[in-house]
Amino acid sequence: MNNAAISPLVFGAWRLADTPAEANADAVAQKISMALEHGITSFDHADIYGDYTCEELFGAAVEKHKLPRSKMQIITKCGIKLISKNRPEHGLKTYDTTREHVMRSVDRSLKNLKTDFIDLLLIHRPDPLMNPAELSETFNTLHKQGKVKNFGVSNFTPAQVRMLQSGMNQKLVSNQIEFSLLHTEPLYNGQLDQCIEMGMMPMAWSPLAGGRMFAQSEERTRRVRETLTQLAAKYNTAQPETIAYAWLLRHPARIVPVLGTGKAERLKAAVAALKIHLEHEDWFHLLKAAVGHDVP
Ligand SMILES: NC(=O)c1ccc[n+]([C@@H]2O[C@H](COP(=O)([O-])OP(=O)(O)OC[C@H]3O[C@@H](n4cnc5c(N)ncnc54)[C@H](OP(=O)(O)O)[C@@H]3O)[C@@H](O)[C@H]2O)c1
Repeated sequence: MNNAAISPLVFGAWRLADTPAEANADAVAQKISMALEHGITSFDHADIYGDYTCEELFGAAVEKHKLPRSKMQIITKCGIKLISKNRPEHGLKTYDTTREHVMRSVDRSLKNLKTDFIDLLLIHRPDPLMNPAELSETFNTLHKQGKVKNFGVSNFTPAQVRMLQSGMNQKLVSNQIEFSLLHTEPLYNGQLDQCIEMGMMPMAWSPLAGGRMFAQSEERTRRVRETLTQLAAKYNTAQPETIAYAWLLRHPARIVPVLGTGKAERLKAAVAALKIHLEHEDWFHLLKAAVGHDVP
């Protein structure tokens, strides 16, 4: 799997259950349809989203409204165990990448999402007890059974990716990482370098810093917002967030932003970024606003 196999922007399902009035099959179906209409065909889940309820909400919406699974790519994650009334067997928050947990988690995700297969399964966070040989066997089994087509990771350091990849014959196709103008570490910590080097597809979660980019009054955030607004005018686009997405898309690692909004206007603003190629100096103006000084 590479960038060609998923849409250039991904719809994130994390917040699907946040607003009780919208946590139902009809409202969720509307959001899925809206994403599909905008060419956003890939959907990012995790077993734990919405306290283990978002996958089921999504599956119920797809089933009730007969939404075309064949036109979607489903990403989901496993490996975090939360304390939850929906998982009474968990006695403590832990990470778990054992065969038993991963197989069980995938089976539950398939059932909840009402699908026969997952396009891309990510290990949600690095598990200190992760055994690459065991996980490799698990991935092989899931692949052979047709339950998962591709595998990747999330929030892994480059060393953790190398360690895991060294023990497995399935290629890790993606590292989903936090990256935005308010979280620029991946430019310097090797995560993006490694994606280019290993031909992995980086996905950027919280591309608007979870909404803080447009809500916070902290000096750095105000600086970023001001620059975004100036550039929005220059590029003749209505919304400053369009420029924030364009900044991510301009990186040569071919970053795929994972969108957090469920609002039509904001989805449209994200899609507008696909047509904007930031000029060299403009990209650096934004970096300067983000870090507070010129590059050294
Ligand atoms: N792998 C991981 O560990 C991990 C961690 C976190 C998230 N994720 C994935 O990444 C996805 C996106 O993360 P995110 O939700 O944090 O993304 P985000 O796009 O940075 O933030 C979305 C939030 O910002 C708000 N927002 C969007 N535009 C805004 C604007 N112009 N002004 C004010 N608020 C605005 C949205 O509200 P509205 O809905 O009202 O627009 C929503 O609450 C998640 O759904 C999930 O799939 C992955």
